[in-house]
Amino acid sequence: MYRLDTIDLNKPAPADEPMRQYYFIKKARSYVQKESEKLGRPLTSAVITFGCQMNARDSEKLSGILREIGYVETKNEDADFVIYNTCTIRENANLRVYGRLGVLHGYKKKNPHMKIALCGCMMQETEVVEKLQKSYRFVDLIFGTHNIFKFAELLTEAFEADRMVIDVWKDTDKIVEELPVERKYPFKSGVNIMFGCNNFCSYCIVPYVRGRERSREPGDILREIKELADNGVKEVMLLGQNVNSYGKNLENPIAFAELLRMAEKIKGIERIRFMTSHPKDLSDELIQVMAESQKICRHLHLPLQSGSTRLLKIMNRKYTKEQYLELTEKVRTAIPDIALTTDIIVGFPGETEEDFQETLEVVRKVRYDSAFTFIYSKRTGTLAAGMDNQIPENVVKDRFDRLLKEVQDISRRMAERFTGTDQQVLVEEPDSQMEGYLTGRLSNNHVVHFRGDVSLIGCLVNVHLDECRGFYYMGRLVN
Ligand code: 5AD
Ligand code: SF4
Repeated sequence: MYRLDTIDLNKPAPADEPMRQYYFIKKARSYVQKESEKLGRPLTSAVITFGCQMNARDSEKLSGILREIGYVETKNEDADFVIYNTCTIRENANLRVYGRLGVLHGYKKKNPHMKIALCGCMMQETEVVEKLQKSYRFVDLIFGTHNIFKFAELLTEAFEADRMVIDVWKDTDKIVEELPVERKYPFKSGVNIMFGCNNFCSYCIVPYVRGRERSREPGDILREIKELADNGVKEVMLLGQNVNSYGKNLENPIAFAELLRMAEKIKGIERIRFMTSHPKDLSDELIQVMAESQKICRHLHLPLQSGSTRLLKIMNRKYTKEQYLELTEKVRTAIPDIALTTDIIVGFPGETEEDFQETLEVVRKVRYDSAFTFIYSKRTGTLAAGMDNQIPENVVKDRFDRLLKEVQDISRRMAERFTGTDQQVLVEEPDSQMEGYLTGRLSNNHVVHFRGDVSLIGCLVNVHLDECRGFYYMGRLVN
């Protein structure tokens, strides 16, 4: 962290990052202070996150900067500053944001000095920003995924300007290190290892809104993990759209498996997770590192998308049904207690009943511990959006229901295999349903509820799994 008291606001802002942002943190802080004196109370801020783990981590960075600027964080959306960190992976993600903006407008009418900001993937789409400019004039600040590091500077501009401030970059090769972050949990944290995606799966908007693949330097990543460990973090989740291709484009290339080996040596870190793996890049070396590791969690998320080799080709996934099955077989043989999870899309353009049956076949063969199932959503700008054989809604819905039933039946049966065992659990929070109970997570990412004292939150404990209730366990503490 940089010291704000050494920054002179009478001088122009420094050009270098991250110093420049610390300058603007101090400047924005003076505006917040003034306003708060005028109102006779502290100013509040709310960061609302849509979408994936990547966005969740970005939101922690936004919260960290807001804290430094002097806002008091709240969950209520009638705060003095509200920012939506948006997702655009499927159309309904966008619709939700428009709906909620209407509610925010109501709050702003009651509290005219309220500021509303939007950032994240949805803002990378030109049509979205045009629509906001036209019909949502009450929004104060809009920025995208590539310049989130500039948040303090943009917020200062929003304080100074009497208009909508918009700054969306098309792409970047820049990674700014060492900005403040506010972690949601003191004992676990996400760590970005790479940004963007180069795969261009034909249905997916991510490469367009998150840009090209950029890996962080291993030294920066390891330093961050070490600092987290020094601050009491026990579990890290390494984040990237395609972690298996981590490090390939660095000046000194390094494999993801190698990064894991180094991360594992960091004292204090007890658990390592990662997300997401692309089947086409999952190496034997990675499987071996996972099998040998005491710290890498027994969980692999391996998106299938479709079981039909024909469709996989049109999706540009670069693996066949047989290769995928072989890979999961290899993983299960090397790490028998691993939980395998996946993402599946139904209703991709041209999907026939035969294609769908092949997806069901893979689901039955792999026996996923859990699966996220999605109805295909047409995203403007992607290759698939231009395909003319879109599937009728009723057919998609019928396939979706059949898939969901299959997936749920299998995961229920898979979860049973751990009933009666003792498992190491990271205690995460008080149980939201039952007084005196805690909620924790197993290495394989399953959730367990058990009686215990809140002082155990953040600790690793042993829990006997008494009963499996479909998607979670009831257990009891053991020594
Ligand atoms: N429609 C439906 N699902 C999608 N996903 C990505 N793009 C789309 C889309 N256009 C799903 C994929 C991916 C997950 C994060 O979201 O299954 O793995
Ligand atoms: Fe999208 Fe494919 Fe990249 Fe995943 S790997 S983010 S599905 S383009």
